[in-house]
Amino acid sequence: MSMSSISGSAILLCIATTAIAESPGLGEPVSQSEIEQLDFVVMPDGSGLPAGSGTAMEGQALFATHCIACHGEDGTGGINDRLAGGHGSLATDAPAKTVGSYWPYATTLFDYIRRAMPYQSPGTLTPDEIYALTAYVLFINEIVDENAELDAEALPAVRMPNADGFTWDYQP
Ligand code: HEC
Repeated sequence: MSMSSISGSAILLCIATTAIAESPGLGEPVSQSEIEQLDFVVMPDGSGLPAGSGTAMEGQALFATHCIACHGEDGTGGINDRLAGGHGSLATDAPAKTVGSYWPYATTLFDYIRRAMPYQSPGTLTPDEIYALTAYVLFINEIVDENAELDAEALPAVRMPNADGFTWDYQP
């Protein structure tokens, strides 16, 4: 998810709030809790991460309950995106872009799961559960070991295999 789409959703919420006063009464006001559910960004350095923690093994059980139906056992072979594997494939004729092979920052995983997953009910997981699921997705990518416990300090310290695969092309 790009920065522009994150700030885009914040702007949309603002417009929606302003428009309600002038609208013909259609729709419904955005509640404070709905705004809080979206109004956060976790940066690569870990700023924005909440308190809490979770282990990869806790994440395995949560994954079986909330994620496996779409992403498959061990994050592969499901009906939706493959979450694991593809390491070393990016420069081949058949690149497999997964969290493990492609994403440059581990913190993005926390932000993404918190914002968008489970697909049918985003916003329902607690910070502890999201840390655990993040740890599990990193574990199935062999980036952390099975005893990993992640929190606001440990997660930004995780180095992703493709951390150096992106270049900053912007010239101010
Ligand atoms: C109902 C199906 C469904 C469930 C359940 C679900 N997902 Fe997803 N997931 C998707 C779909 C569809 C996408 C692709 C969304 C897109 O590209 O906009 C996705 C994308 C993702 C991605 C990004 C993959 C990438 O490389 O871009 C992650 C990470 C992820 N899901 C994690 C989870 C986790 C963790 C859970 C459980 C808490 C979960 N998902 C539950 C359907 C699901």
